[in-house]
Amino acid sequence: MSQRETATNQQPFLGVPSSQSAGGIPYLKSFLVVVVAILITSIISWQHAKIVQKGTQSHVSFPCGSFSVVSFPFVLRSTRVVTENGTFPASIFVDRNGLISRVVPGLVEDSSWGCLHDVGDLVIMPGLIDPHVHVNEPGTKSEGFNTATLAAAAGGTTLIFDMPLNSHPACTTYESILEKRRIANSRQLWVDVGLIGGMISGNLETLSDQIFRAGVVALKSFTIDSQAYDFPPVSIQEAEQVMRALRNLSIDGEIRYMIHAELASSKFSPNNYEGPSMSYMAFMRSRPDSFEVNAVQALIELSRKTHCPVYIVHISSADAAELVKQAKEEGIQIFAETCTQYLAFAADDIPDGHPEFKCVPPIRPNGNRKRLLRYLLQDNLFDLIASDHAPATPEEKCLEQGNVRMAYAGISGLQYRLPAVWTALRSYGVTFEQLSYWLSLSAARIFHVDDRKGRIASGMEADFVIWDPESLVNITENWCFHRHKKSAFLGKQYYGEVKETFLRGSRIFKSDAERGKLGTVLQYPRGIIIRNRLVEE
Ligand SMILES: *[C@@H]1O[C@H](CO)[C@@H](O)[C@H](O)[C@H]1NC(C)=O
Ligand SMILES: *[C@@H]1O[C@H](CO)[C@@H](O)[C@H](O)[C@H]1NC(C)=O
Ligand SMILES: *[C@@H]1O[C@H](CO)[C@@H](O)[C@H](O)[C@H]1NC(C)=O
Ligand SMILES: [Zn+2]
Repeated sequence: MSQRETATNQQPFLGVPSSQSAGGIPYLKSFLVVVVAILITSIISWQHAKIVQKGTQSHVSFPCGSFSVVSFPFVLRSTRVVTENGTFPASIFVDRNGLISRVVPGLVEDSSWGCLHDVGDLVIMPGLIDPHVHVNEPGTKSEGFNTATLAAAAGGTTLIFDMPLNSHPACTTYESILEKRRIANSRQLWVDVGLIGGMISGNLETLSDQIFRAGVVALKSFTIDSQAYDFPPVSIQEAEQVMRALRNLSIDGEIRYMIHAELASSKFSPNNYEGPSMSYMAFMRSRPDSFEVNAVQALIELSRKTHCPVYIVHISSADAAELVKQAKEEGIQIFAETCTQYLAFAADDIPDGHPEFKCVPPIRPNGNRKRLLRYLLQDNLFDLIASDHAPATPEEKCLEQGNVRMAYAGISGLQYRLPAVWTALRSYGVTFEQLSYWLSLSAARIFHVDDRKGRIASGMEADFVIWDPESLVNITENWCFHRHKKSAFLGKQYYGEVKETFLRGSRIFKSDAERGKLGTVLQYPRGIIIRNRLVEE
């Protein structure tokens, strides 16, 4: 994606959806309103900053108007604040560095701290963390750092981890990771981003301290053809080498090894299968449960042998989940990720000719989905629910032809993770603390950023998603920040509307849905590439 294309893509995000602009004048008006509001905001915050700087005596308190929350001290309060100690009315004091100073039970009226932002009964949760996102930049036209992080912000996600797949250079070497970091840093990033390095067959000598010094938070391998020419799968023997080396580098526990776990017979070829090209079921049958079961079994064995923890991405098969359950009971350290689409959709309901539902491993029948829910809710088996956001262009998705067989395998859904997961789980009595664990805290712990992220508590970064779990939202192309709007989630109606998103005390998103618009991105707080602990800043 070129710089110019990036700039063009930003136009809709001033609150004017490009596709359905009926007439220029009302939108011009709202554009002007936004500009004026931003000017007023700047003046207010500048004056406020002046007052604060003059001395402790002159602190003023005022309600935080719709545009006036910036990174100066403020109090955020609601009757439903989700903390490690439960959900209750609380007031969150945010300091000028965008950190949470303290969390006080009850609704305070503090005039000495700063402005007061009361969100009523809206739920305040820690900003979401999505550990599995394919930004696909550089080298593709399918997304990019700018639109991916915008969509993340609109979905309440404040930290994403970017997978190396389908992106050249594939983050397999020190130089390529530095290059990707440079590119990411040159884009407008709306949320924090962590980079994941690739481990590919025949290139294991790149696994050294160096690759970690380049700043990756994890490593990723495939055990099956990834359909990316520059990302050959590792054999089980090679996966073992990586795990032994991770143990040996004495960074064990720091760097997670994330593995796409499907293991096929040697004859396997992704698009060579029986059945009509438009049939989802034919595609599904081409990636049977046994692929996942065989891979998970082999990886559990490796973890048992090497004592290196293994992180299995996007578990879709309940049969594979059963193996994970047994391994966990045995004490083997294994992190199990499932994804929004496996909880929200069932193959039975996917009509033929809709490649937007194609992903690997596939969405399986409803019976499988119900078993996954049981493993999640009753057995506590899954550690995280990721989006595995894997965008593609309409051409790559073969949308016009409805050709499932030839379509790129990947679902676009980073922005919709919260409402889709909440809607799939809410009728089972899931609590906000549980939801927050699967969508945020657990990832913070697994990837060692829990000293900063994943909880609403003193000392943490002031990252919040403020949302209405009772509000119904229609997923439409208008309500989409992704570069390409077609998605398996389009046309769905979900509970859970993201109203505001904060990153380190700055409001980065505010819903404008009541006016039938997408929402407004309020600020440009440049995100950071989270660096691994080993990296010296
Ligand atoms: C582990 O480290 C030692 C000492 O640095 C080295 O000799 C050995 O080859 C390493 N083993 C593996 C599997 O990397
Ligand atoms: C949760 O409870 C612990 C123990 O009482 C306390 O130290 C901590 O501050 C509480 N956290 C919040 C956010 O209320
Ligand atoms: C959402 O869709 C439903 C059903 O199509 C419709 O009745 C409802 O008015 C829509 N809501 C909004 C806010 O557009
Ligand atoms: Zn993926």
